[in-house]
Amino acid sequence: MVEKKAFVTGHPIAHSRSPKIHGYWLKTYGIDGSYRAIDVAPADFLEFLRTLQANGLEGGNVTIPHKEVAFARVERRDEAAEMIGAVNMLWLEDGVLWGGNSDWIGFAGNLDEHAPGWDKNGPAVVLGAGGAARAVIHALQVRGVRDIRIVNRTLARAQELADRFGAGVTAHGAVGDLLADAGLLVNTTSLGMHGDATLAADPAGLPGHAIVSDIVYVPLETPLLAAARARNLKTVDGLGMLLHQAVPGFERWFGKRPEVTPELRAMIVADIVAK
Ligand code: ATR
Repeated sequence: MVEKKAFVTGHPIAHSRSPKIHGYWLKTYGIDGSYRAIDVAPADFLEFLRTLQANGLEGGNVTIPHKEVAFARVERRDEAAEMIGAVNMLWLEDGVLWGGNSDWIGFAGNLDEHAPGWDKNGPAVVLGAGGAARAVIHALQVRGVRDIRIVNRTLARAQELADRFGAGVTAHGAVGDLLADAGLLVNTTSLGMHGDATLAADPAGLPGHAIVSDIVYVPLETPLLAAARARNLKTVDGLGMLLHQAVPGFERWFGKRPEVTPELRAMIVADIVAK
């Protein structure tokens, strides 16, 4: 059988953890395949897309700064990519280039694993209004969360998302008293990343049954998660979203639905801690 080849492309891309995740699964399942990081400069990205098939590539992941161009240039998009307005995975189907989005599956899969019942816990507060927020809001809607409150420094961006996602989604410029009856708080902003001590919001305002999650995973325990844990709230870190978003791509390119195992997580945690 011909070796199946997939990739993650970005610029820069050397620090991507995706090759480690997919490499672990290829080895675990004994699949004859490869998953490589390919650095493609923006000027070369369209040519990269055009030559996927000629280069024998099944498809792959797309990250910064290529997500928007990928969204615009694929021939077909899956429903989630349309809703979220971003593409993070590519594949060829009968010679047609498809773009999909699995970030929302990563978000839901992470919470399913670490906080089952999260989708029936009450109103959700989402901090931030960028691409990551759109993936989270899509997941919340798919899973039936009916009261979604977007909080963003720039209110107009939150309002755009509320308009985009429609019924049950509201926009706010500050947290105010939105946490008092919330069952889920999700940070999608970059606050708390890489040693930034800023609290994205103060979880003190949440009820005792609330779940707090962050999509930032370096550090694994962000200041928000630490503050939530100190108040005995259930917390879910962002690493699981990275691991779970990789599942649909692996299944599509290599034909096997992989499992997010404690061993895989430990391997990536070790990599984060080492850096
Ligand atoms: P992504 O696609 O990763 O979500 P993005 O589109 O750049 O990234 O969005 C970043 C989010 O973090 C935005 O909601 C941004 O707020 P603004 O829309 O007001 O810019 C938010 N963010 C970034 N830095 C912030 C800060 N210092 N304080 C508050 N919010 C911040």
